[in-house]
Amino acid sequence: MTKVWDGFIRGFHWLLVLAIAVLYVTGEEGYLEAHFITGYLLLALMLARVVWGIIGSDTARFSALFHSPKSALRAMCSNDSEVGHNPAGSYMVLLFFVLIFIQLISGLMSTDDILVEGPLVAYVPSSWSEVASDLHHENFEILLIAIALHVLAIVVYRIKGKNLVKTLLTGKEKGVVTTPKMRSGKLAYIIFVLFSIVILGAWGMQPLQALLG
Ligand code: HEM
Ligand code: HEM
Repeated sequence: MTKVWDGFIRGFHWLLVLAIAVLYVTGEEGYLEAHFITGYLLLALMLARVVWGIIGSDTARFSALFHSPKSALRAMCSNDSEVGHNPAGSYMVLLFFVLIFIQLISGLMSTDDILVEGPLVAYVPSSWSEVASDLHHENFEILLIAIALHVLAIVVYRIKGKNLVKTLLTGKEKGVVTTPKMRSGKLAYIIFVLFSIVILGAWGMQPLQALLG
């Protein structure tokens, strides 16, 4: 068994899934204090993931995510054991990062036009926050489609005999040809906590107080 995912990437993924689920429910139901706090924590998580993409384990690095379209097509047709994301999967990951950051940044500039506004609304022209509020709605639909395709791809791999979920849960994989250089995910969690403190300190006090009553 070779270790292919460090503890942070594994935790990051399931925290991301949880955060998106909470953001969906709180956004749709209008629980915007909880929505903001979850959004700030997700922003901290994504920023920590970006830092980990530069200094983290081999399989977490952005350098491992860029592949030619040709190798992506080849990966979709074959069943080779790649270490970490295969070339096709890496396009999906990059798409997720772009969509999630668009969702976060548009959220910071969004307003419900009644009581609640993101912390950047005060700093941008009102036309921007109108566009951002529309984008926050439209981009979420695209994100949902990307999630459906992502889960479908995982199911297809499962049918082809590759259990990617098990690998993402345990971090270990059998029969890989190269051994990636791994780093302990603890540092990334510390970076996540530091980003959370800074972001919640700057923007989170008012929604936190409202939430805690
Ligand atoms: C809100 C829903 C989801 C989002 C936004 C999401 C996003 C992502 C992202 C960004 C990665 C790359 C991780 C990284 O390198 O940082 C990833 C990988 C992965 N996700 Fe998800 N995911 C979602 C739901 C799921 C679900 C429900 C499953 C299980 C059925 C799943 C299974 C996996 C697996 C197995 C990988 C590793 C793929 C590989 O081996 O290349 N994901 N996901
Ligand atoms: C990836 C992170 C996020 C997701 C998935 C998300 C998702 C959503 C969803 C599904 C809605 C309901 C949209 C609608 O009914 O049209 C919503 C509304 C809203 N979100 Fe987010 N959101 C995220 C981050 C943020 C952040 C960081 C903020 C600001 C700090 C924010 C501020 C708002 C506001 C103000 C609304 C109400 C807009 C309205 O009523 O038109 N969101 N969000």
